[in-house]
Amino acid sequence: MYIEELHSAVGKTVTLKGWVSNKREGKGIVFIVLRDGSGYCQCVVTEETAGTAGLENAQGLSLESSVELTGLVIEDEKQIGGYELQVSGVIPVGESENYPVSKKEHGVEFLMDQRHLWLRSTRQWAIMRIRNRIIYSIHQYFQEQGFVQMDAPIFTGNACEGTSTLFETDFYGEPAYLSQSGQLYGEAMAMAMGRIYTFGPTFRAEKSKTRRHLSEFWMIEPEMAFYDIFQNMDCIEGMLHAIIKDVLAHCAQELKTIGRDISLLESSLTSFPRLTYDEAVRIIKGEQDVNGKNGIGSLEEELRRVQLRLEEVNAEIADRETKIASGGMKKGEINFFQTKIDALKQEKADLEEDSRNIPQWIRSAREFEYGNDFGGSDETVITRLFDSPIMVYDWPHAVKAFYLKRNPENPDFARGVDVLAPEGYGEIVGGGERETNVELLKAKITEHDLPMEAFEWYLDLRRFGAVPHSGFGLGLERMVTWVCGLKHVRESIPFPRMYGRLKP
Ligand code: 4AD
Ligand code: MG
Repeated sequence: MYIEELHSAVGKTVTLKGWVSNKREGKGIVFIVLRDGSGYCQCVVTEETAGTAGLENAQGLSLESSVELTGLVIEDEKQIGGYELQVSGVIPVGESENYPVSKKEHGVEFLMDQRHLWLRSTRQWAIMRIRNRIIYSIHQYFQEQGFVQMDAPIFTGNACEGTSTLFETDFYGEPAYLSQSGQLYGEAMAMAMGRIYTFGPTFRAEKSKTRRHLSEFWMIEPEMAFYDIFQNMDCIEGMLHAIIKDVLAHCAQELKTIGRDISLLESSLTSFPRLTYDEAVRIIKGEQDVNGKNGIGSLEEELRRVQLRLEEVNAEIADRETKIASGGMKKGEINFFQTKIDALKQEKADLEEDSRNIPQWIRSAREFEYGNDFGGSDETVITRLFDSPIMVYDWPHAVKAFYLKRNPENPDFARGVDVLAPEGYGEIVGGGERETNVELLKAKITEHDLPMEAFEWYLDLRRFGAVPHSGFGLGLERMVTWVCGLKHVRESIPFPRMYGRLKP
């Protein structure tokens, strides 16, 4: 029996198989929080119910050792998961001596080195379950509408998203690249199947450490024949709504476990504001307000708030530390104070980070040059003004990918669309309508210094029955990071690959 099925076993005796995620002992009693991957359950072992041998076996269990516990299922709202097991049998399975990932705060580098074990912790468990649900709902959304899933090759001869982030590899003596995007192959397949989506690994050499970039990530790339950029935006919005609804409906416990404020997901179930690049730039530069809020003005306000709060936090830490140092406190009281101090120090670190970041955001917003692509801080500035994702479209063609269609009414602009998630998360989707004019595409391929010969097959798609078509790419880890409210993309994937991180 799995813990998530306990609701159907109240009053019955069942066997659970899992790992000890927590253990407390009293005189003649052991409380084990068992985890089995499907959930958590408190299991109580006493001599009365489990016998002397059972109790001794339970006492011998250590953190993260594995065990089979048999017992009676009791409903108990107060317990994690809502049930408790009154244990009658304890069979130890695998030992675990000196488990290295304790409940104590560890540095993130240590945790990343222990990623193979860190994945067992409650918070990581919840994030991975949400990731799983997101994957499931993406497939469901597209399958229900009749899209055909396709797998694009990983070895490619084409750069799709610029040559600067290619991972080169050896393909029987010929240079090949790890795929930066399945899009070009998706376009070919859309001409065969109508509407398709890829769901595959994607590789980008990004030699910098940011909270948004991975070297290996998973991308979902739908491609739709006969869709223009506006139908493309409808499709993106429909997909994001479906994912959010699904996660809210099926991952309530996981969201609660990680302390996610779900009002910020619920507010994203409205239609997303669609802004042209020009409007978005005015907002970033503080020349246009959003619902009475000015981008730069509200950042300045926020900075003042952060500084005031920082003073308060510093004073409270000092105060509590003095009280502990002056002696005379009971052990329990000291522990309580210390926990509070640890929490305040975490808040202090976050506030200090904000007080370093906000002035930079203000500066880069003020100095934003019209015509440029958005950087991370520009995305932060604009998305903080909205409580749902926004879609920015019609970008200067010079800063976007070669395959985007020119706006027929204003050829300086390309029909690309980026979806930026709120709360400062920034770009989660990039896409657009595709250029169908062979001559314009050739000019772009030359301009981007790409080898024409490698793109001949792609140009064929325009030579034989070209149709207007559009598509987009959703970065799975960016989506998970936003939905879970994570600070860094590295926690959104089981084994992250990024600059400086190849192990475990
Ligand atoms: O904006 P990008 O580069 O667009 C494409 O690759 C297009 N070919 C997609 C298409 O139209 N079919 O990447 C799409 C998304 C980004 O919005 C982001 O969510 C994610 O992929 N992404 C990354 N995620 C993690 N780490 C990275 N280094 C990423 N680069 C892009
Ligand atoms: Mg992009």
